[in-house]
Parts: sequence; structure tokens; C-alpha cells
Amino acid sequence: MPILTPDERIFCAIDTTNLEQAVELAQELKGAVGGFKLGKEFFTANGPGGVAKISELGQRIFLDLKFHDIPNTVAGAIKAARSLNCYMLTIHASGGAAMVRAAVEAKGEEEEPRILAVTILTSLTADDLVQLGQKLPVADQVLRLGKLAHESGADGLVASPQEVAALRAARGEDCLLVVPGIRPAWASTDDQKRIMTPGDAVKAGADFLVIGRPITQSKDPKVAAKLITDEIADALIR
Ligand code: C5P
Repeated sequence: MPILTPDERIFCAIDTTNLEQAVELAQELKGAVGGFKLGKEFFTANGPGGVAKISELGQRIFLDLKFHDIPNTVAGAIKAARSLNCYMLTIHASGGAAMVRAAVEAKGEEEEPRILAVTILTSLTADDLVQLGQKLPVADQVLRLGKLAHESGADGLVASPQEVAALRAARGEDCLLVVPGIRPAWASTDDQKRIMTPGDAVKAGADFLVIGRPITQSKDPKVAAKLITDEIADALIR
């Protein structure tokens, strides 16, 4: 993994069904962030053609479709995704070791797309997990699924700010950690509850930060991205 510049660490989440708006925003932010995260909302509305439109701008694409199915089906989806020129994409660790291995094999020898596994969705509480029959505390279950996915060949994990330091300690340097739930001190928290500032997240061990509304809803998205880049740079030299 080459050393990342502070702006390269930012993936701006483009959560909209409106392709025109998405392209406009991506054009505006080109060069100010490392890439764009496109998820189910954007993909369901705009499909591979929409991904290509954003990708044409030359920035890295993080395709966050969180694949979770039988190994053969996930392998097929990853093979199909190879033509989309994505830098990284997501699967669910809870699909099991065979599913993660199938995803990694389907990617082939190429470095991209890097396969990231989602452990426990941060929207799930400890009570939700008990209801699902999982008795371990959330933090332990995250480490368990992180180990399973990483040892099955995943390039990295998506982690909440609360988990990033423990995952970095447990999984070592050779595991990409991608972290949403980031809020600069000057931004609104929106519906995010367990948040961390960009500076603290990189200090805790995050490689990439997924940041949406603090940039996209800002009066000047480019200025917001620059403020965040400066905060990351500052945190890395301390
Ligand atoms: O606007 P905001 O910065 O909250 O956007 C964060 C992005 O990261 C959204 O696309 C959201 O779906 C995603 N995400 C998250 N928390 C997680 C996993 C993904 O906010 N635990």
C-alpha cells in the first residue's frame, strides 16, 4: 500500500438517485478528495452506466453494495463488478469464510477492486444482536468477524470509529480500515451518533474516511474537503 496523501484518504459518499447532481458534485470535488463512495441508493437508480459516469472523472470509486449471498452468487457479482473499474467494494463478513474466499478468488490476481468486509452494521444495537441469537458483546463480535474476513483473504474492513483502534491492533498494518461516521468538529452530527473527527480517526488507525454530508451539504463542498484534508495532515504530523 503506497503512502496516502491526506486528501487521498477521503472518500466522499454520494448518496443520491439523481445522476446529474452526482456528476456535478463529483466534478466540483475532483482533485479535492481521493474518491467517491457509491452505494445502493445511487447504484439501484443509475446502474453500471452511472458508476461509469462518475468513474470517467478519473477519481477512485468505492462501490458500497455490501454483497451477502451464497459464495457462487457473490463470486459472480464480483466478476461482474470487475468491469466497473472500482478501487474497492464491500461484502458482508457474516456471509461466512467460504463466501469471503469466493469473493477474493473471483477478484483474481488484480489488486483492484480491494475487497472490504463489513462486520456488524452500526445501526444494530446489542439488543438487536441478542434478538438475532448472537450473545457476544458487539465489540467482540466485530473482532471475531474481522478476523474471519481478514484471514479468509479480505483486503480490509469497514469499521465504525469505535472499533477502528481495536481492529488495527488485532489485524495489524496489513488490513485496510475504512471508516464512516466521521464528523469534523465544525459540522452537524446529522443522524450519526457514534462519531469521531477526521484527525482522531486517522490517529486511531483509519486508512480511508467515508465522509458524506459534512462535504456534500456544505455551502462550499470544496472548501469543506480542504478543511478536512488540513485536519488529517495536521493529525498525521503530531
Ligand atoms: O453523510 P454521512 O457522512 O453520514 O455519510 C456516511 C456514509 O457512510 C453514508 O453513505 C452511510 O450510508 C455510510 N455508512 C455509515 N455508517 C456505517 C456504514 C456506512 O454512515 N456504519
